[in-house]
Amino acid sequence: MNAVPPTSAAGFYARRLARPGAVLAPMAGYSDAPMRQLAAEQGALWTVSEMISARGLALGGENESLHLGRPYPGETGRVVQLFGADPDILADAVQKAQAWFAPAAIDLNMGCPVPKVRGKGGACLLQTPEVAFDLIRAMKSATTLDVSAKIRLGWDSNRSIEIAQGLSEAGAAVITVHGRTSAQRYTGQADWEAIARVAASVPTPVIGSGDILSAEQARERQRLGVAAVMIGRGAVGNPWIFRALADENPERPTPAQRAATALRHAELQHQFYSAPDRYRPGEMRYASMKPLRKVLPKYLPDCPELHAELVQVERIEDVRRLLEPLTDLQKPKYRGPEQHESAAPALFS
Ligand SMILES: Cc1cc2nc3c(=O)[nH]c(=O)nc-3n(C[C@H](O)[C@H](O)[C@H](O)COP(=O)(O)O)c2cc1C
Repeated sequence: MNAVPPTSAAGFYARRLARPGAVLAPMAGYSDAPMRQLAAEQGALWTVSEMISARGLALGGENESLHLGRPYPGETGRVVQLFGADPDILADAVQKAQAWFAPAAIDLNMGCPVPKVRGKGGACLLQTPEVAFDLIRAMKSATTLDVSAKIRLGWDSNRSIEIAQGLSEAGAAVITVHGRTSAQRYTGQADWEAIARVAASVPTPVIGSGDILSAEQARERQRLGVAAVMIGRGAVGNPWIFRALADENPERPTPAQRAATALRHAELQHQFYSAPDRYRPGEMRYASMKPLRKVLPKYLPDCPELHAELVQVERIEDVRRLLEPLTDLQKPKYRGPEQHESAAPALFS
Protein backbone atom coordinates (compact mmCIF):
# COMPACT_ATOMS: atom_id res chain seq x y z
CA MET A 1 0.00 0.00 0.00
CA ASN A 2 1.24 3.53 -0.76
CA ALA A 3 2.68 5.59 2.07
CA VAL A 4 0.28 8.46 2.67
CA PRO A 5 0.26 11.40 5.05
CA PRO A 6 -2.07 11.04 8.04
CA THR A 7 -5.49 12.72 7.96
CA SER A 8 -5.25 15.96 9.89
CA ALA A 9 -5.96 19.66 9.57
CA ALA A 10 -3.39 19.50 6.77
CA GLY A 11 -5.18 16.68 4.94
CA PHE A 12 -5.75 16.88 1.21
CA TYR A 13 -9.01 18.83 1.35
CA ALA A 14 -7.76 21.35 3.91
CA ARG A 15 -4.69 22.04 1.78
CA ARG A 16 -6.69 22.50 -1.41
CA LEU A 17 -9.30 24.70 0.26
CA ALA A 18 -6.56 27.15 1.23
CA ARG A 19 -6.72 28.70 -2.25
CA PRO A 20 -9.64 30.09 -4.27
CA GLY A 21 -11.31 28.01 -6.95
CA ALA A 22 -14.05 25.51 -7.65
CA VAL A 23 -14.27 21.73 -7.76
CA LEU A 24 -15.10 19.56 -10.80
CA ALA A 25 -18.17 17.46 -9.98
CA PRO A 26 -18.27 13.69 -10.42
CA MET A 27 -20.39 13.00 -13.49
CA ALA A 28 -20.86 9.48 -14.81
CA GLY A 29 -20.19 9.57 -18.55
CA TYR A 30 -18.35 12.90 -18.36
CA SER A 31 -15.73 13.36 -15.60
CA ASP A 32 -13.32 10.88 -17.10
CA ALA A 33 -9.56 11.37 -17.37
CA PRO A 34 -9.61 13.81 -20.33
CA MET A 35 -12.22 16.08 -18.75
CA ARG A 36 -10.44 15.97 -15.39
CA GLN A 37 -7.13 16.84 -17.01
CA LEU A 38 -8.53 19.93 -18.72
CA ALA A 39 -10.27 21.06 -15.53
CA ALA A 40 -7.13 20.56 -13.45
CA GLU A 41 -5.04 22.52 -15.95
CA GLN A 42 -7.50 25.38 -15.65
CA GLY A 43 -7.14 25.52 -11.87
CA ALA A 44 -9.90 23.28 -10.48
CA LEU A 45 -9.32 22.84 -6.72
CA TRP A 46 -9.71 19.11 -7.22
CA THR A 47 -11.59 16.75 -9.50
CA VAL A 48 -13.77 13.73 -8.70
CA SER A 49 -13.91 10.51 -10.73
CA GLU A 50 -17.12 9.06 -12.07
CA MET A 51 -18.69 6.83 -9.41
CA ILE A 52 -17.16 3.38 -9.15
CA SER A 53 -18.88 0.30 -7.74
CA ALA A 54 -17.23 -0.76 -4.47
CA ARG A 55 -18.47 -4.29 -5.09
CA GLY A 56 -16.93 -4.31 -8.56
CA LEU A 57 -13.57 -3.28 -7.12
CA ALA A 58 -13.63 -5.46 -4.04
CA LEU A 59 -14.98 -8.65 -5.54
CA GLY A 60 -13.91 -8.78 -9.10
CA GLY A 61 -11.90 -5.84 -10.23
CA GLU A 62 -14.49 -5.54 -13.04
CA ASN A 63 -12.96 -4.04 -16.15
CA GLU A 64 -15.34 -1.12 -16.03
CA SER A 65 -14.37 -0.26 -12.46
CA LEU A 66 -10.69 -0.41 -13.32
CA HIS A 67 -11.21 1.82 -16.31
CA LEU A 68 -13.14 4.43 -14.38
CA GLY A 69 -10.48 4.66 -11.70
CA ARG A 70 -7.44 4.83 -13.95
CA PRO A 71 -5.58 8.14 -13.62
CA TYR A 72 -4.03 9.94 -16.57
CA PRO A 73 -0.20 10.10 -16.44
CA GLY A 74 0.86 12.54 -13.73
CA GLU A 75 -2.66 13.05 -12.35
CA THR A 76 -2.77 14.48 -8.84
CA GLY A 77 -5.61 16.06 -6.92
CA ARG A 78 -8.21 13.52 -8.11
CA VAL A 79 -10.73 12.15 -5.63
CA VAL A 80 -12.10 8.66 -6.34
CA GLN A 81 -15.82 8.27 -5.68
CA LEU A 82 -17.19 4.88 -4.60
CA PHE A 83 -20.76 3.69 -4.26
CA GLY A 84 -21.83 0.82 -2.09
CA ALA A 85 -23.82 -0.09 1.00
CA ASP A 86 -21.76 -2.73 2.80
CA PRO A 87 -19.06 -1.59 5.24
CA ASP A 88 -16.70 -4.53 4.68
CA ILE A 89 -16.93 -4.24 0.91
CA LEU A 90 -16.39 -0.50 1.04
CA ALA A 91 -13.37 -0.88 3.32
CA ASP A 92 -11.89 -3.43 0.92
CA ALA A 93 -12.68 -1.22 -2.08
CA VAL A 94 -11.02 1.77 -0.41
CA GLN A 95 -7.79 -0.20 -0.02
CA LYS A 96 -7.91 -1.41 -3.61
CA ALA A 97 -8.73 2.05 -4.95
CA GLN A 98 -5.83 3.47 -2.97
CA ALA A 99 -3.38 0.87 -4.23
CA TRP A 100 -4.52 0.86 -7.87
CA PHE A 101 -5.60 4.43 -8.59
CA ALA A 102 -3.44 6.65 -6.32
CA PRO A 103 -6.33 8.92 -5.34
CA ALA A 104 -5.90 12.09 -3.27
CA ALA A 105 -8.99 11.24 -1.20
CA ILE A 106 -12.01 8.90 -1.31
CA ASP A 107 -15.63 10.04 -1.59
CA LEU A 108 -18.82 8.11 -0.78
CA ASN A 109 -21.69 8.56 -3.25
CA MET A 110 -24.92 9.26 -1.35
CA GLY A 111 -26.72 11.10 -4.11
CA CYS A 112 -27.13 8.97 -7.19
CA PRO A 113 -30.81 8.24 -7.82
CA VAL A 114 -30.42 5.90 -10.82
CA PRO A 115 -31.80 2.35 -10.48
CA LYS A 116 -28.38 0.78 -11.10
CA VAL A 117 -27.22 2.24 -7.80
CA ARG A 118 -30.48 2.12 -5.80
CA GLY A 119 -30.41 -0.65 -3.22
CA LYS A 120 -26.64 -0.76 -3.50
CA GLY A 121 -26.01 2.66 -1.99
CA GLY A 122 -26.18 6.07 -3.66
CA ALA A 123 -29.17 8.21 -2.70
CA CYS A 124 -30.77 5.23 -0.95
CA LEU A 125 -28.43 5.90 1.93
CA LEU A 126 -30.34 9.14 2.56
CA GLN A 127 -33.22 6.96 3.81
CA THR A 128 -30.99 5.14 6.29
CA PRO A 129 -28.33 7.71 7.20
CA GLU A 130 -27.05 5.65 10.16
CA VAL A 131 -25.89 3.04 7.60
CA ALA A 132 -23.96 5.78 5.81
CA PHE A 133 -22.32 6.90 9.07
CA ASP A 134 -21.08 3.33 9.57
CA LEU A 135 -19.83 3.24 6.00
CA ILE A 136 -17.77 6.39 6.56
CA ARG A 137 -16.28 4.88 9.73
CA ALA A 138 -15.47 1.64 7.88
CA MET A 139 -13.87 3.55 5.00
CA LYS A 140 -11.79 5.63 7.40
CA SER A 141 -10.59 2.53 9.19
CA ALA A 142 -9.18 1.29 5.87
CA THR A 143 -7.14 4.37 4.92
CA THR A 144 -5.31 7.40 6.20
CA LEU A 145 -6.53 9.41 3.20
CA ASP A 146 -9.33 11.92 3.72
CA VAL A 147 -12.78 10.34 3.35
CA SER A 148 -15.70 12.52 2.28
CA ALA A 149 -19.37 12.13 1.32
CA LYS A 150 -21.57 13.66 -1.37
CA ILE A 151 -25.24 13.89 -0.50
CA ARG A 152 -28.48 15.36 -1.76
CA LEU A 153 -30.80 17.23 0.59
CA GLY A 154 -32.67 14.03 1.40
CA TRP A 155 -34.63 11.21 -0.20
CA ASP A 156 -37.95 12.99 -0.73
CA SER A 157 -37.77 15.64 2.00
CA ASN A 158 -34.97 17.79 3.36
CA ARG A 159 -33.04 15.95 6.12
CA SER A 160 -29.71 17.43 5.12
CA ILE A 161 -28.73 18.98 8.46
CA GLU A 162 -29.28 15.80 10.43
CA ILE A 163 -27.45 13.74 7.79
CA ALA A 164 -24.53 16.17 7.55
CA GLN A 165 -24.16 16.29 11.33
CA GLY A 166 -23.96 12.49 11.49
CA LEU A 167 -21.42 12.39 8.65
CA SER A 168 -19.36 15.05 10.37
CA GLU A 169 -19.34 13.08 13.62
CA ALA A 170 -18.38 9.93 11.73
CA GLY A 171 -15.29 11.78 10.48
CA ALA A 172 -16.09 12.93 6.94
CA ALA A 173 -13.40 15.46 5.99
CA VAL A 174 -15.68 17.26 3.51
CA ILE A 175 -19.41 17.06 2.81
CA THR A 176 -20.67 18.00 -0.63
CA VAL A 177 -24.35 18.90 -0.84
CA HIS A 178 -26.29 18.86 -4.12
CA GLY A 179 -29.24 21.10 -3.32
CA ARG A 180 -32.04 18.80 -4.47
CA THR A 181 -33.77 15.76 -3.00
CA SER A 182 -33.36 12.42 -4.72
CA ALA A 183 -37.04 12.51 -5.71
CA GLN A 184 -36.37 15.76 -7.57
CA ARG A 185 -33.62 14.17 -9.64
CA TYR A 186 -32.55 17.14 -11.80
CA THR A 187 -35.85 19.05 -11.93
CA GLY A 188 -36.44 22.49 -10.43
CA GLN A 189 -33.65 24.60 -9.01
CA ALA A 190 -30.99 23.58 -6.50
CA ASP A 191 -31.87 25.07 -3.09
CA TRP A 192 -28.80 27.08 -2.12
CA GLU A 193 -30.43 28.44 1.04
CA ALA A 194 -30.71 24.85 2.25
CA ILE A 195 -27.05 24.24 1.34
CA ALA A 196 -26.09 27.37 3.31
CA ARG A 197 -28.00 26.09 6.36
CA VAL A 198 -26.03 22.83 6.20
CA ALA A 199 -22.75 24.76 5.94
CA ALA A 200 -23.70 26.71 9.07
CA SER A 201 -24.62 23.61 11.04
CA VAL A 202 -21.44 21.53 10.84
CA PRO A 203 -17.75 22.21 11.57
CA THR A 204 -16.80 20.19 8.46
CA PRO A 205 -16.19 22.14 5.23
CA VAL A 206 -19.28 21.99 3.02
CA ILE A 207 -19.03 22.14 -0.79
CA GLY A 208 -22.18 23.37 -2.55
CA SER A 209 -23.39 21.83 -5.82
CA GLY A 210 -26.15 22.67 -8.24
CA ASP A 211 -26.87 24.76 -11.32
CA ILE A 212 -23.73 26.91 -11.47
CA LEU A 213 -23.23 27.97 -15.07
CA SER A 214 -20.98 31.02 -14.77
CA ALA A 215 -18.15 32.41 -12.65
CA GLU A 216 -20.48 35.21 -11.47
CA GLN A 217 -23.03 32.70 -10.16
CA ALA A 218 -20.23 30.74 -8.51
CA ARG A 219 -18.99 33.84 -6.67
CA GLU A 220 -22.50 34.70 -5.53
CA ARG A 221 -23.07 31.20 -4.14
CA GLN A 222 -19.64 31.10 -2.56
CA ARG A 223 -20.73 34.05 -0.41
CA LEU A 224 -23.45 31.88 1.19
CA GLY A 225 -20.85 30.40 3.52
CA VAL A 226 -19.77 27.25 1.70
CA ALA A 227 -16.10 26.28 1.70
CA ALA A 228 -16.18 26.04 -2.11
CA VAL A 229 -18.58 25.39 -4.96
CA MET A 230 -18.65 22.36 -7.24
CA ILE A 231 -19.43 22.63 -10.94
CA GLY A 232 -20.71 19.81 -13.12
CA ARG A 233 -22.81 20.50 -16.21
CA GLY A 234 -21.54 24.08 -16.39
CA ALA A 235 -18.01 22.78 -16.92
CA VAL A 236 -18.87 20.57 -19.92
CA GLY A 237 -17.12 22.21 -22.87
CA ASN A 238 -16.10 25.04 -20.53
CA PRO A 239 -13.01 24.20 -18.44
CA TRP A 240 -12.22 27.93 -18.35
CA ILE A 241 -14.89 28.37 -15.68
CA PHE A 242 -12.28 27.01 -13.23
CA ARG A 243 -9.65 29.54 -14.35
CA ALA A 244 -12.18 32.34 -13.92
CA LEU A 245 -12.55 31.34 -10.25
CA ALA A 246 -8.92 30.52 -9.49
CA ASP A 247 -7.42 33.75 -10.97
CA GLU A 248 -8.30 37.37 -10.31
CA ASN A 249 -8.09 38.51 -13.92
CA PRO A 250 -8.47 35.49 -16.12
CA GLU A 251 -8.27 35.80 -19.88
CA ARG A 252 -11.39 34.81 -21.77
CA PRO A 253 -10.74 32.10 -24.33
CA THR A 254 -10.72 33.27 -27.93
CA PRO A 255 -12.77 31.33 -30.49
CA ALA A 256 -9.57 29.71 -31.77
CA GLN A 257 -8.62 28.66 -28.22
CA ARG A 258 -12.08 27.16 -27.77
CA ALA A 259 -11.68 25.10 -30.91
CA ALA A 260 -8.11 24.13 -29.95
CA THR A 261 -9.25 22.95 -26.53
CA ALA A 262 -12.14 20.96 -28.00
CA LEU A 263 -9.63 19.31 -30.31
CA ARG A 264 -7.26 18.71 -27.40
CA HIS A 265 -10.09 17.05 -25.47
CA ALA A 266 -10.53 14.69 -28.41
CA GLU A 267 -6.77 14.04 -28.64
CA LEU A 268 -6.66 13.23 -24.91
CA GLN A 269 -9.59 10.88 -25.43
CA HIS A 270 -7.71 9.26 -28.30
CA GLN A 271 -4.53 8.83 -26.20
CA PHE A 272 -6.25 7.64 -23.05
CA TYR A 273 -8.67 5.14 -24.54
CA SER A 274 -6.73 3.74 -27.52
CA ALA A 275 -5.13 0.42 -26.60
CA PRO A 276 -3.62 -2.66 -28.20
CA ASP A 277 -6.39 -4.87 -29.64
CA ARG A 278 -6.85 -7.90 -27.43
CA TYR A 279 -8.15 -10.03 -30.26
CA ARG A 280 -5.75 -8.93 -33.04
CA PRO A 281 -2.19 -9.05 -31.74
CA GLY A 282 0.00 -6.24 -33.04
CA GLU A 283 -2.99 -4.00 -33.89
CA MET A 284 -4.39 -1.02 -32.04
CA ARG A 285 -8.01 -0.50 -31.07
CA TYR A 286 -8.51 3.23 -31.45
CA ALA A 287 -10.76 5.17 -29.13
CA SER A 288 -14.25 5.98 -30.34
CA MET A 289 -15.20 9.64 -30.38
CA LYS A 290 -18.88 8.83 -29.79
CA PRO A 291 -18.72 9.75 -26.07
CA LEU A 292 -17.61 13.25 -27.13
CA ARG A 293 -20.61 13.85 -29.40
CA LYS A 294 -22.48 15.41 -26.48
CA VAL A 295 -19.44 17.42 -25.40
CA LEU A 296 -17.81 18.95 -28.48
CA PRO A 297 -20.70 21.25 -29.49
CA LYS A 298 -20.61 22.77 -25.98
CA TYR A 299 -17.11 24.07 -26.65
CA LEU A 300 -18.37 25.91 -29.73
CA PRO A 301 -21.67 27.63 -28.88
CA ASP A 302 -20.87 30.26 -31.52
CA CYS A 303 -20.50 27.72 -34.33
CA PRO A 304 -24.00 26.20 -34.59
CA GLU A 305 -23.34 25.34 -38.24
CA LEU A 306 -20.77 22.74 -37.06
CA HIS A 307 -22.95 21.01 -34.50
CA ALA A 308 -24.70 18.64 -36.90
CA GLU A 309 -21.31 17.23 -37.90
CA LEU A 310 -19.82 17.29 -34.39
CA VAL A 311 -22.62 15.04 -33.12
CA GLN A 312 -21.71 12.43 -35.72
CA VAL A 313 -17.96 12.09 -35.17
CA GLU A 314 -16.67 8.53 -35.01
CA ARG A 315 -12.90 8.77 -35.04
CA ILE A 316 -10.22 11.27 -34.13
CA GLU A 317 -9.71 12.06 -37.83
CA ASP A 318 -13.29 13.36 -38.01
CA VAL A 319 -12.67 15.75 -35.14
CA ARG A 320 -9.36 16.91 -36.58
CA ARG A 321 -10.95 17.58 -39.97
CA LEU A 322 -13.68 19.71 -38.41
CA LEU A 323 -11.70 21.60 -35.80
CA GLU A 324 -8.16 22.02 -37.07
CA PRO A 325 -9.15 24.77 -39.55
CA LEU A 326 -10.70 26.78 -36.71
CA THR A 327 -7.64 26.58 -34.52
CA ASP A 328 -5.65 28.09 -37.39
CA LEU A 329 -7.91 31.08 -37.80
CA GLN A 330 -5.60 33.29 -35.81
CA LYS A 331 -2.54 32.28 -37.81
CA PRO A 332 -2.80 34.35 -41.01
CA LYS A 333 0.32 32.71 -42.45
CA TYR A 334 -1.80 29.67 -43.20
CA ARG A 335 -4.36 31.51 -45.29
CA GLY A 336 -4.73 34.57 -47.47
CA PRO A 337 -5.94 37.73 -45.68
CA GLU A 338 -9.24 37.79 -47.61
CA GLN A 339 -10.00 34.24 -46.58
CA HIS A 340 -9.09 34.95 -42.97
CA GLU A 341 -11.24 38.06 -42.75
CA SER A 342 -14.21 36.54 -44.45
CA ALA A 343 -14.06 33.24 -42.58
CA ALA A 344 -13.77 34.64 -39.06
CA PRO A 345 -17.04 36.55 -38.75
CA ALA A 346 -18.98 33.74 -40.39
CA LEU A 347 -17.67 31.16 -37.99
CA PHE A 348 -17.48 33.14 -34.79
CA SER A 349 -19.99 35.95 -34.98
C1 LIG B 1 -24.69 13.16 -16.29
C2 LIG B 1 -24.49 13.31 -14.79
C3 LIG B 1 -23.81 12.32 -14.10
C4 LIG B 1 -23.63 12.44 -12.71
N1 LIG B 1 -22.91 11.48 -12.06
C5 LIG B 1 -22.66 11.62 -10.73
C6 LIG B 1 -21.84 10.68 -10.04
O1 LIG B 1 -21.30 9.74 -10.62
N2 LIG B 1 -21.65 10.88 -8.70
C7 LIG B 1 -22.21 11.94 -8.02
O2 LIG B 1 -22.01 12.08 -6.81
N3 LIG B 1 -22.97 12.85 -8.68
C8 LIG B 1 -23.19 12.72 -9.99
N4 LIG B 1 -23.92 13.67 -10.65
C9 LIG B 1 -24.38 14.87 -9.92
C10 LIG B 1 -23.36 16.01 -10.07
O3 LIG B 1 -22.15 15.70 -9.43
C11 LIG B 1 -23.90 17.34 -9.51
O4 LIG B 1 -24.08 17.23 -8.11
C12 LIG B 1 -25.22 17.76 -10.16
O5 LIG B 1 -25.18 17.59 -11.56
C13 LIG B 1 -25.57 19.23 -9.86
O6 LIG B 1 -24.53 20.07 -10.28
P1 LIG B 1 -24.49 20.84 -11.73
O7 LIG B 1 -25.80 21.57 -11.85
O8 LIG B 1 -23.30 21.75 -11.58
O9 LIG B 1 -24.34 19.81 -12.78
C14 LIG B 1 -24.13 13.56 -12.01
C15 LIG B 1 -24.82 14.54 -12.73
C16 LIG B 1 -24.99 14.44 -14.11
C17 LIG B 1 -25.72 15.53 -14.84
